[in-house]
Amino acid sequence: MSNKIILTGDRPTGKLHVGHYVGSLKNRVELQESGEYDKIYIMIADAQALTDNIENPEKIRENIIEVALDYLACGLDPNKATIFIQSQVPELCELSFYYMDMVTVARLQRNPTVKNEIKMRNFEASIPVGFFTYPISQAADITAFKATTVPVGEDQLPMIEQTREIVRKFNQVYSEVLIEPDVILPSNKACLRLPGTDGKAKMSKSLGNCIYLSDTEEEVRKKVMGMYTDPTHIKVSDPGHLEGNTVFTYLDAFCKDEYFAKYLPDYANLQELKDHYTRGGLGDMVVKRFLFNVMQEEFEPIRNRRKEFEKNIEGVYEILRKGSEEARKVAMNTLAEVREAMKINYFDDDELIKSHKEKYNN
Ligand code: TRP
Repeated sequence: MSNKIILTGDRPTGKLHVGHYVGSLKNRVELQESGEYDKIYIMIADAQALTDNIENPEKIRENIIEVALDYLACGLDPNKATIFIQSQVPELCELSFYYMDMVTVARLQRNPTVKNEIKMRNFEASIPVGFFTYPISQAADITAFKATTVPVGEDQLPMIEQTREIVRKFNQVYSEVLIEPDVILPSNKACLRLPGTDGKAKMSKSLGNCIYLSDTEEEVRKKVMGMYTDPTHIKVSDPGHLEGNTVFTYLDAFCKDEYFAKYLPDYANLQELKDHYTRGGLGDMVVKRFLFNVMQEEFEPIRNRRKEFEKNIEGVYEILRKGSEEARKVAMNTLAEVREAMKINYFDDDELIKSHKEKYNN
């Protein structure tokens, strides 16, 4: 049977936060532990991060180790997954260059994720070409490893669709070299996009509304206690609302029934807590304190593992170096097949020389 291969990754533009954890990292570790995959590649997408950070190379450079530490802290295991740095696999650039011939400008302009990001960054008329074409580069990332499975957040769906189109085009024009990947989205709805602690739709460093995996216990406590809830829930007796109530969104994402027995035994599960809150008579502080305990359960082990890896930075760089070497070998193999299919493998093709000798009668 054919191999099952995972590829996914992150841009190293900052430390990873609990939104990353619940939206992708947790899922990745589960996939890694499922034993169902023959290969798992986790890529730190530094080259992609540079597409809109060209004046900020230091930022990318500093964050590679942070992201790697966050990965290892969450339980990604270099013995089971290949963790590598995108720029250290130059074959990905080569592959992107060939794919550029298979995608129209109009098609890229229709990509909703790129459209949205252009707006968010106020690029409008001054979009770097590399940024505009990053869906193509992402297709190269995925296909160079013949990934069958790409676990990502929903915002990445248009990238996978673009990848599938490129694969179909390539295989139809040349030969069946590439694999069409499938997506795995996080299963818990609250995990599709965790809001910031201020209730804003997106966690972002510049808004200061993130809870990072590397935050200390005290930082997490402060952030949870300051979280946005329901502005109309003023007195404890007031009926509360769950919609847009960040504390409850976080509980949807992180809470397990067992935590009630341990920390809030008056309730059997989240539904009972929600019912009480909407009825009125349940104060925000009780819910926040409970959420803090839940966050402790989920993130304290991760924080501790991170501290262990922080003691061995050289070792972490060694993991990245070895991973990048291995990834490069795999990408080189795919590129050899791609070049052959595209008939640009001149020096590996004895038939070519023979036929041209015959053409010139020698
Ligand atoms: N675009 C992804 C992000 O912003 C990172 C990424 C780059 C990626 N190449 C990839 C994800 C390939 C999955 C597959 O998070």
